[in-house]
Amino acid sequence: MEQEKIRNFSIISHIDAGKSTLADRFLELTGTVEKKKMHAQYLDMMDLEQEKGITIKLQPVRMEYNDYVLNLIDTPGHVDFSYEVSRSLAAVEGAVLLVDASQGVQAQTLANLHLALEQNLKIIPVINKIDLATAQVDETEKEIRDILHDNGVLLKVSAKTGENVEKVLGQIIKKIPSPSGMLDSPFRALIFDSIYDLYKGVILFVRVVDGKIKKGDEILAIASKAKSEVLQVGVFNPQLFKKEALQAGEIGYVATGLKDVSLCRVGDTITTSNVHALPGYKEPQPMVWASLYTSKDADFNKLKDSLNKLKLNDASLIFEVESSSALGMGFKTGFLGMLHMEIVVERLKREYNIELIITSPNVVYKLKGRGKKEKEIYKAEDLLDKNLFEWIKEPWTKIEVVTPNKYLGSIMKLLEQIGGVYKNTRVLGVDRTVIEYQAPLREIIIKKPNQTGPFYDLLKNVSSGFASMNYEVSGWQKADLIKLDILVAGEKVEAFSKIIPKDRAQEEGRALVKKLKYIIPPQLFTVALQAVIGGKIIARENICAKRKDVTGHLYGGDYTRKRKLLEKQKKGKKKLKSLGKVNIPAEAFLRVFRK
Ligand code: GTP
Repeated sequence: MEQEKIRNFSIISHIDAGKSTLADRFLELTGTVEKKKMHAQYLDMMDLEQEKGITIKLQPVRMEYNDYVLNLIDTPGHVDFSYEVSRSLAAVEGAVLLVDASQGVQAQTLANLHLALEQNLKIIPVINKIDLATAQVDETEKEIRDILHDNGVLLKVSAKTGENVEKVLGQIIKKIPSPSGMLDSPFRALIFDSIYDLYKGVILFVRVVDGKIKKGDEILAIASKAKSEVLQVGVFNPQLFKKEALQAGEIGYVATGLKDVSLCRVGDTITTSNVHALPGYKEPQPMVWASLYTSKDADFNKLKDSLNKLKLNDASLIFEVESSSALGMGFKTGFLGMLHMEIVVERLKREYNIELIITSPNVVYKLKGRGKKEKEIYKAEDLLDKNLFEWIKEPWTKIEVVTPNKYLGSIMKLLEQIGGVYKNTRVLGVDRTVIEYQAPLREIIIKKPNQTGPFYDLLKNVSSGFASMNYEVSGWQKADLIKLDILVAGEKVEAFSKIIPKDRAQEEGRALVKKLKYIIPPQLFTVALQAVIGGKIIARENICAKRKDVTGHLYGGDYTRKRKLLEKQKKGKKKLKSLGKVNIPAEAFLRVFRK
């Protein structure tokens, strides 16, 4: 395939602007997917994506249209999956920037546009959902022209009805440059994603930059030094589709046969000879940390293997072995946000059949013990008693909120409540403002037990869903934090321990035991739940005993028999209690931190 006839592009936007729906129309127009097989959000190929109605994974697809090959990489919109976006953008020459006409320019529109411009991509702006009664097409147009400083063509489409969608394909062909690799140079390709296949081993998703590759060629991954013989190459239709060869400018896959998943990393370059590596990717920066343990010790190796395989398909996942006195061997794990954490736990369960115990999520802190060097701590267990450390610092973020003007007041109030510091505001289009604040990362991503959701949900609530936000870590500041422990039937359950601000200790302690009361199932004895700070109990709740009806089979009023049986049951309860065995199902650990 001549490179002049290839266009490689992504669709980027804020969450829910209609990327996958627009991709559906492209798949139909180009006849890539047969009509009878077509369904909504076709490129959201994981069950989880279909169930949740959001894109989690990037998904490449090759389409043929009027003599051209159009390689699309569909990307997620949620901020927790932005690493998928940045990797996709490094593999293409252009991006369709999709803006929802009923929402206008949103925070991730700006953040993703910024990512695309950093890669010098050609931007094709498109306004979507013009069929909606609430569409504000003119206002949205003004906002887009404001951010792009561009008076060129701005298409207005409905991905739902298909109106004007074909014109987008025309713009893609006209405006996005074709790839310009060297066909006669040695083979070089960038790995932007991968999966594991039982038979084909690691399958690499690549953008071929120079040269050509086919089955049987010897390849080398430059950074990991892994070598293998190519088992198969092909393209995405969007399922894997075998081809004779892949060459400069194309997007496709290379099956390596490698079983050692640690040898294949996204961002690495594969080649057939001695060439320079392509610029890789920045390492993703985890925002939230939690430890993962299996409910059965014997499953540790299974968890390790599963995490390694999952990492092939989720390059933003970071983990390291650790051990805990109470929970055994597990993994300190970094996530890009709470949704990412939830998805990883769910994928481990569905794809690898692993039941996890997950500890309370934290941001990373820097702790300076008295007379000691500063170190990073990732879990409550590592927070020393107050008199043993000089200071503790926490990450702060720069937050950018985009909102219609009428919600400005309530949003600023919300930002003040989380200890935010005002930085700047700027006007966007006719009726919108971009507000910039700085605030502790902890306040942005971790949900408090007494609130209905994390900060993002609160922001949506006060703005009837119209405000959106983006954040990035901007530095460190000292904080007044302490450790909150939870005792269940007198025993500390390490997974529930949390690092919290001192001035919210009472409130958080009370809310947490209250929540646990409904999450931990009743036992055969009354279970006390206590919130403890520095040895002092600050809140308590009881889970009433589950009463097994031992007298049910007795009829009439045989009171003495009944009492005897109840006494016997009481003794049994005492025995259980002394064993301190409270059965906490693995699921409960995740529910504590969810909504
Ligand atoms: P993420 O990848 O999760 O960010 O979402 P997305 O940008 O891929 O959006 P998706 O295609 O999943 O669409 C989100 C919602 O908007 C779905 O309910 C779509 O049916 C709807 N939608 C998409 N395009 C249009 C449109 O042109 N008109 C209307 N009325 N609804 C649309």
